[in-house]
Formats: sequence, C-alpha cells, structure tokens
Amino acid sequence: MSKITAAITAVGAYVPEFVLSNKVLETMVDTNDEWITTRTGIKERRILKEEGKGTSYLAIKAAQNLLEKKQLDPKEIDLVIVATATPDMPVASTAVYVASQIGATNAFAYDLQAACSSFLYGLSTATSYIESGRYKKVLLIGADKMSSIIDYTDRATCIIFGDGAGATLLEPNTEGLGFQDEFLRSDGAGREFLKIEAGGSILPPNEETVKNKQHFVHQDGRTVFKFAVSNMAGVCEEIMKRNNLTHEDVSWLVPHQANLRIIDATANRMGLEEAKVLKNIHRYGNTTSATLPLLLSDFEGQLKKGDNLIFAAFGGGFTWGSIYLKWAYNS
Ligand code: UT7
Repeated sequence: MSKITAAITAVGAYVPEFVLSNKVLETMVDTNDEWITTRTGIKERRILKEEGKGTSYLAIKAAQNLLEKKQLDPKEIDLVIVATATPDMPVASTAVYVASQIGATNAFAYDLQAACSSFLYGLSTATSYIESGRYKKVLLIGADKMSSIIDYTDRATCIIFGDGAGATLLEPNTEGLGFQDEFLRSDGAGREFLKIEAGGSILPPNEETVKNKQHFVHQDGRTVFKFAVSNMAGVCEEIMKRNNLTHEDVSWLVPHQANLRIIDATANRMGLEEAKVLKNIHRYGNTTSATLPLLLSDFEGQLKKGDNLIFAAFGGGFTWGSIYLKWAYNS
C-alpha cells in the first residue's frame, strides 16, 4: 500500500463586511495613509462590528463556505480544530461550539493557540492525525477577531490588525501530494515583546489592569520585526535546502501577512520572483490565525495540482516555522 500523506482538499473563507480604511484610521489616531502603506503594505482591514459576535461567528461562516463549495456532509468530519488567539471566551472551547453549529456532530473539537503561527502549527497537527491513519477528515480553521484585543487609541497596533477566518479540509492522499515536510520553531524569550499582559493566570483582570489597558495587545514592533525577518526567511531557506528545492521548484510562497517588508525580505532570501508570492495584506491587514487560509481562498483558482507551496509564519511567543506541501487539486 502506498504511503498516506495529508492533503488540503477544500478551502473556505469569510471576512466581515465593515472596511476600516487607512483614511478612517487617520481620523482616529495620529497616523497617515502614506506611513501605514510604506511601513506595512496595509490599505484596509475588515472589522466584525456586530455586538455579541465573536471569533466563532467568523469560523462558522468560513466553515460553511467550505462545506457548501465541497458539497460535504458535516457529519463526515472527524475532528474540528480552531486555530485562534482570540477564542470566544477563555473557557469553553470555541471549536466545540463551531463544530456543533456547522452540524459536525460526529466530530470532536478543540482550539489551538500559537499566536500568528496558530494555523501553521495547526496544519502540522491536522496532517499528523491524517498521516497516522486515525482520522479521515479534519477541518482546520484559522480565525481571529483581532479587533476584540486591540486598543484603537494605540497607533502602534491598531493600524496592523484585522478580523477574518479561513477553513481548510485535510484528507488522506496516496498520490504523494499534500504535506511533505515541516520545520517548526519556538523561543520563549520572545514573550516580552508581543503580549497581552492581563487576563491570564499570572495577572487576572481587575479594575487596575483595565485602566492600564493591559488587556490589549502590546508589541515592541521594531524587535518583533527584526526577529520576524531573520527567522521567517531562515526557516524557508532551511526547508528548501533539506528538500533539495531551488527557487525554480517553489511554485508559491504562502507567507503570514504581518508586514509587506517581512514578506518581501523572506521572498528575496528564497530567490523567489514576486509573481510567486501570495499577498493580500493590503486588503485585510494582519488577521493572525486567518492569514494563511485566507490566502489559499483568495488564490485558490491559481493553485494547480502538484504545485509546491511553502507556508511560513512568525508570531508571538515567539513561534515560527515553515511547511512544504504539494497542492492536491485544480479548482
Ligand atoms: O504577526 C505577528 C508578528 N508581528 C510582526 O511581525 C510585526 C513586526 N513589526 C512591524 O511590522 C513594524 O515594526 C511596525 C509596522 C509595527 C512598525 O514599523 P517600524 O518601521 O518598525 O516603525 P517603528 O516602530 O520603528 O516606529 C518608527 C516611527 C516612530 O517614531 P520616531 O520614534 O521615529 O519619531 C513611531 O513613533 O514611526 C512612529 N509610528 C507611527 N507613525 C505614524 C509608529 N506607529 C505609527 C503610525 N503612524 N501608525
């Protein structure tokens, strides 16, 4: 029997309707379109405005989009993983609610958190379940309502992030397509530079923490930028080297959308021409766990069976890595 690999066999996505443009941000904080565009590449981002709706709303919409496109009966799904840094609530699990709402009543479900690398790490987890033969259909969703943890008076963070969700279905493949290799890293020294200080077990929320805005994301952007540039490029070079891939062999770079300059630096180190680099940061900003599946959804029509994709991400923690995958279908 030929070896089982795990392939992505369907994608879906959802972004909220409300568009927060650079022009509008100019009226909220001391910033301007030119600064945001040249420093980050972002023009606009989507925000989930409706009260009472959390990350699960985005995840459910993305999953339903996938189910409809694939014409898949949700009862066939074995496992639902929601990769997210902004769960609906600390307890209970967002994924469990999502699974029930989409009718995946035969699945078990859980959340996976690794900041901006959540989806990438989730891809590692989901593919391992498939390769082991234990499960046949794993729904991996990357979803974040970043607007729920952003201080819209802090120009250092509010210009960067947006809300969104993307869903992927992982299934066994016996043609050698799908997951090929991964190189995942983490370093706890990074937690000082990108974090939400309060609301966890070290500093439970209280009046003081709210007054000090410690329930919002704080980032030492310059330091994170330096680490992101060198580490994202480093893991991409490494995965190419150990799989004997030249820049010509790589069909697409699927990079986390945190900053256009980080994306371009990674592509340069890999020797990739611009046309092979998937980007939609100008439309959505940094949607954290959703960036990679949103790219797959936006560019699905251009991906061809057998194409070599390199996924790369870098995020809080620090967490980072790359995954090499062969695309498994023509849409
Ligand atoms: O996805 C998770 C991982 N996160 C990342 O990968 C993000 C990595 N970091 C970045 O992308 C960049 O560091 C930022 C986009 C966050 C910031 O860009 P930067 O080029 O590193 O700017 P900076 O923080 O070094 O600030 C440069 C200047 C400062 O002014 P002075 O001190 O030079 O006078 C800032 O106060 O720009 C100022 N500044 C702004 N000006 C206008 C900071 N934010 C803004 C703003 N508008 N929104």
